[in-house]
Amino acid sequence: MKIAVLGGTGDQGLGIAIRFVQLGEQIIIGSRKAEKAEKAVKDIKELLENDDLDNLKGLSNEDAAKEGDIIILTVPILAQKPTLDSVKDSVKGKIVVDATVPLQSNIGGTPTTCFELWEGSAAERTAKILKDADVKVVSAFNNISSSSLKDFDKKPEIDCDCLVSSDDEEAKKIVMDLIERIPGVKCVDCGLLEQARTVEHLTALLINLNIRYKTHYGGLRITGLPDK
Ligand SMILES: NC(=O)c1ccc[n+]([C@@H]2O[C@H](COP(=O)([O-])OP(=O)(O)OC[C@H]3O[C@@H](n4cnc5c(N)ncnc54)[C@H](OP(=O)(O)O)[C@@H]3O)[C@@H](O)[C@H]2O)c1
Repeated sequence: MKIAVLGGTGDQGLGIAIRFVQLGEQIIIGSRKAEKAEKAVKDIKELLENDDLDNLKGLSNEDAAKEGDIIILTVPILAQKPTLDSVKDSVKGKIVVDATVPLQSNIGGTPTTCFELWEGSAAERTAKILKDADVKVVSAFNNISSSSLKDFDKKPEIDCDCLVSSDDEEAKKIVMDLIERIPGVKCVDCGLLEQARTVEHLTALLINLNIRYKTHYGGLRITGLPDK
């Protein structure tokens, strides 16, 4: 299964790509510019001190989306619609994992608050933008910081749950099984995609806590739930 990370040249996408590359998954970094994606691949190879990685490549967002079986969207909310519009024809029937958060910082405000989207959440907005492409949208990765993902040497185990929601049970299970391979991460099945409204807002809280406690690794653990 190939995983395309759109906007994978940014902090969150790079972190996700690094963790999955380490697990041996086939990763395609997507960017508006193929050369920038190739540069990100070079950087990851240097970081992992492995020049021979054959499970990682960089392409334009459009080509990455064509090749990927699972598409992960990691762009700022302002770039959500243009990015999805550019790949609409390539994602038909696929799983699209939305990691975006409607943070005020993206529209010039404080990063510790979210703004309201008409659709309810960024994930539901992704579903709306791609409504004609028959995709299965899964919301995930909102509450895991890019530092937790990227700092694999300092923190090999990520101390954070991944809150996952989707209207498609099968897609949600596929994504949860994949994410749970990342050391330390436990996925919590939050139910329908509308739950992303709450989950995305928790990101703003976590950023606030990271600032207050002068760290980059604040995360969430949900306790008391039986194993599924
Ligand atoms: N960073 C975190 O810790 C974190 C945690 C949880 C969730 N998130 C969410 O994940 C998403 C990505 O976060 P990030 O910190 O990785 O963002 P970022 O570094 O600012 O941007 C990620 C990538 O998006 C593309 N991009 C940026 N501006 C764009 C624009 N105006 N139009 C089209 N593409 C644009 C760029 O890729 P190219 O230039 O290569 O096209 C950039 O490398 C956001 O929605 C964020 O809220 C982030």
